[in-house]
Amino acid sequence: MTIFTRRAFLKTTAAAGLAGIGAATIGRLAGFAAAKSAPLILKTATIEAQLMDGAPTKNVLTYGEAGMPPVVRMRKGEPFAARLINGIDEPTTIHWHGIRVPNKMDGVPFLVQPYVYQGDHFDYEFTPPDAGTFWYHPHCNTLIQMGHGLTGVIVVENPKDPVFDVEMVVNLRDWRLGDDGQFIEPFRPRDAAKAGTFGTVRTANWQGQPQFDAPAGGLVRLRAAITDVTHIYAFRVDGAEATVIALDGNPVPQRFTPDALQLGPGQRLELAIRMPDEEGAIVSLRDVRGTKPKILATLRSVGRSLKHDLRDLGRLEANPVAEVDLTSAKRIPLALSATAENVAADGICGSLGYSFWAINKVPWPGDTPDPTAPLAELKLGQSYIIDMENLTPHAHPIHLHGMSFKVLSSSTRAVQPLVSDTYLIQPDEKVQLGFVADNPGDWLLHCHIIEHQKTGMTSYFRVV
Ligand code: C2O
Ligand code: CU
Repeated sequence: MTIFTRRAFLKTTAAAGLAGIGAATIGRLAGFAAAKSAPLILKTATIEAQLMDGAPTKNVLTYGEAGMPPVVRMRKGEPFAARLINGIDEPTTIHWHGIRVPNKMDGVPFLVQPYVYQGDHFDYEFTPPDAGTFWYHPHCNTLIQMGHGLTGVIVVENPKDPVFDVEMVVNLRDWRLGDDGQFIEPFRPRDAAKAGTFGTVRTANWQGQPQFDAPAGGLVRLRAAITDVTHIYAFRVDGAEATVIALDGNPVPQRFTPDALQLGPGQRLELAIRMPDEEGAIVSLRDVRGTKPKILATLRSVGRSLKHDLRDLGRLEANPVAEVDLTSAKRIPLALSATAENVAADGICGSLGYSFWAINKVPWPGDTPDPTAPLAELKLGQSYIIDMENLTPHAHPIHLHGMSFKVLSSSTRAVQPLVSDTYLIQPDEKVQLGFVADNPGDWLLHCHIIEHQKTGMTSYFRVV
């Protein structure tokens, strides 16, 4: 199965309202409030899946009945509703990564909603304010639940977007499987204290190096989400002209060719690719980080050339994110560091039993008078600048829930003023992230390398 949609198909799904790819297979709840469209049903399930050659992998988790979690489609500014039904034997929730939802819809257990136990359900309802590529995943026992498969991509469409010949959605992730195709231990403490424990099998849309057909000379909109729990990618496209049009759900101010573009867990890449004119030509999306560069997926040119030109592609509309006021902004110092290893108390929604990492010297949950107090209380409507500093020898994709920030400056590189929810901070880097605290509630801030998140590198802001 490929997630490869032609424009005509997009039109029909859009006309059907909230329907997304795969929606037909996961079904809708009949008879739900007549005036509204029926919510999308996202039911967690334990399945077997063919993730590598040989025996199928048991104990794979997904939403739906078979294969990868569906690509969920929403429309900017239009109400969306989904019912999470929990079909697995441990509590779960859904977090809509990067979407600026009301706090109660953010899916963080204890902080904003109760656990959803086996057999129970929870209704999520919100209107996505921003268009772009996002993703969804649980916020409970995440190393296992996400590690075993519960990571899906979200596309928030904007009818005003420029028209492409084809769109491709790619869910990038790895799996920790042994030679027999079965899950092995989810992490090793000595790796959790470094870059994290890597998967052994790499996939795109749950396949090893899938190939997709795309019209020769056509323009492809490739949306990739890194939903892995550990792996930082460095992207390059070979065999075609390609340009980055959006990152983390927001258009880039200046388009550029990806040349070992590093993005971490939680981040999303949107590329415009111009397919070669010759039928049969192969374009590859690669990860060139580390010693084992790898082809993630390929595109094959088919048919007579459409002779389209990347330069004719219009701009993407900016999302309505409030502009940070630099003159009145208050500073929030945020230092990421390693911490003395100790066996941590149980945190919110499970910990891995160790602490290795800290934010402002405190590993989560804090060894402080109120161990679960927020990192800072922010005033609704006030502008803030996070002064974030990485004192560790590892990169960390730091993710803020509920609000988008703008990258203002970095001590180590020239940065574009990107709007984002996740910043991959490099060792010894200091970065300024500006945002307006315009969404009331409790919002997590954590490293998206899940082993780091679960061994101390977590906190939250309270906006009141
Ligand atoms: Cu991708 Cu706390 O989330
Ligand atoms: Cu980290």
